[in-house]
Amino acid sequence: MPEATRIPEGPRDWNERYATGHTPWDSGTPSVQMQQVIAEQQIAPQKTLEIGCGTGTNAVWLVQQGFDVTAVDLVPLAIERAKAKAAAAGVRVDFSAANLLDSAQVAALAGHGPYPFVFDRGVYHCLRQENGPAVLNALSQFTAPGSLYLQLAGNANDKSKAEQGPPRVAAEELLAELGPLFELVQMREFRFDGVHINGETFSPLAWSALLRRK
Ligand SMILES: C[S@@+](CC[C@H](N)C(=O)[O-])C[C@H]1O[C@@H](n2cnc3c(N)ncnc32)[C@H](O)[C@@H]1O
Repeated sequence: MPEATRIPEGPRDWNERYATGHTPWDSGTPSVQMQQVIAEQQIAPQKTLEIGCGTGTNAVWLVQQGFDVTAVDLVPLAIERAKAKAAAAGVRVDFSAANLLDSAQVAALAGHGPYPFVFDRGVYHCLRQENGPAVLNALSQFTAPGSLYLQLAGNANDKSKAEQGPPRVAAEELLAELGPLFELVQMREFRFDGVHINGETFSPLAWSALLRRK
């Protein structure tokens, strides 16, 4: 396993994490980096897929901007909370529970595609450790040539205490893994906002990578 294998303290199982509240990434506020990239790159409201959407904060924000959002997560409890969040905000998001590493579930989701915009905050950096080829296959099915994929991932340049924060990945690894499917539009470092671990606030170093499907 590469250096990028750490996960924050807490259970390793995603269902258990949501059930026990070990969800340090769940800031409750829309990602500032996502908002900046969408504004700078003038990504227009369009049909969008959010993979690993958690409790739906970013999906709700995207719908509020006019995006037509389908959003999935492995954990039914997260999806339940996401649906409640959308209902409270008075918006419609197509939320459902799905496993992005399950080929039948990926095919079903892809049947509603392709998606010209795919958003991912903190998901690829986890899934690549479980099954890189499967996540690449899912991304290929969700997208079509020209589709944009905005990915926010932990950054291997982060020299802070390793066991706190998201998995970390090197720029070269990201580009080598995603290169067969995507060309790079923009990549930069930023810090994840709103990460809370054991009562402390962290801003782990991250990559923001905007890619275009070849
Ligand atoms: C670090 S969290 C990020 C959640 C959300 N994007 C956010 O920013 O709040 C990673 C998410 O990926 C989801 N996940 C992990 N494995 C998955 C899989 N195989 N299929 C779908 N979602 C998965 C987890 O349940 C979790 O919600």
